[in-house]
Amino acid sequence: DMGGHDTYMHKEIHEQAEAVDRALRGRIDDRFSTVHLGGLNLDARDARAVRRVKILGCGTSYHAGQIGAQMIEELARIPADAEPASEFRYRNPVVDPDTLYIAVSQSGETYDVLAAVQELKRKGARVLGLVNVVGSAIARETDGGIYVHAGPEVCVVSTKCFTNMVVSFGLLALHLGRTRDLSVADGKRIIEGLRKLPGQIEEILANEEQIEKLAGEYADAKSMMFIGRVRGYPVAREASLKLKEVSYIHAEAYPASELKHGPLALIEPAMPTVAIVPDDELLEKNRAALEEIKARSGRILAVAHQEQEKADHTIVVPKNEDELDAILMGIPLQLFAYYTAKAMGRDIDKPRNLAKSVTVE
Ligand code: F6R
Repeated sequence: DMGGHDTYMHKEIHEQAEAVDRALRGRIDDRFSTVHLGGLNLDARDARAVRRVKILGCGTSYHAGQIGAQMIEELARIPADAEPASEFRYRNPVVDPDTLYIAVSQSGETYDVLAAVQELKRKGARVLGLVNVVGSAIARETDGGIYVHAGPEVCVVSTKCFTNMVVSFGLLALHLGRTRDLSVADGKRIIEGLRKLPGQIEEILANEEQIEKLAGEYADAKSMMFIGRVRGYPVAREASLKLKEVSYIHAEAYPASELKHGPLALIEPAMPTVAIVPDDELLEKNRAALEEIKARSGRILAVAHQEQEKADHTIVVPKNEDELDAILMGIPLQLFAYYTAKAMGRDIDKPRNLAKSVTVE
């Protein structure tokens, strides 16, 4: 039942405030400015013994993992990174007992992720799951974990589950941070930021008409560039994937800082750029990248916390805490991908050549 929406993608995009609310419910502990994650199966001593975090997933879940790794580094100061599960399992990785491995998956059935988990377990590693589907294979094979509680996701293209994964990583980063050096004051600040998310998602979705119009303006592009840096880079990668999947417009994502090392050669009026421009310590750097693009007559659509003078259009999103901004900045670009695909008459819920869960190698 699509409840008045024309596609599951549209419905699921609009369920995000409610889904995030569900991910937060019952987990926040104001007394100690931390969160409780019931199924984690990692006591404070274990949490403190973690020397490194390695996150494994595929596609959108891998991108959620990249944002998660940044949050864990920032809030818990544990070195963390994400890698596609398939790459990890084929390169004979060094498996280290002091590393906490986290497998991320909506379905909990993705073969490459499951195989990575099994290989890690065989080598004695500690593996947690960050999964949506309760009781799925990856949820069962991991030592513990977090259910992201996005609810059923029917559209092949992941939207609300991505958002809930990133929120769940925020919870985990806060939890790990508070067993280590994150102060009570910073813990409080992050909790306040998390509590603001559902309302801010509603604000973003209320801007749907502007986004629909913008999608119409850019739908003629053969190819689009997505840029961001540090916190904005995985957001750019995910937005680029979303556009490709549903509209079949070619898109690629680059760190804004890498533009001048090659991809700037592609910039011309027919190659628009979507730029993620958070109002954080990198704002001036990001503005400089917009100037470089403008100087080559590139069209720019910015997603930012305030109007960007150098951009042709800006989608303004509400500001949260710097560490949590990445959760919100991709949401308008889900709608952008949806409306672009709609303008092109694509089969939005079932893009060609794709399946909802990839249970083969
Ligand atoms: C993109 C998308 C895919 C999945 C990937 C992993 O919109 O849906 O990239 O994210 O196939 O699937 P799960 O999360 O089920 O392991």
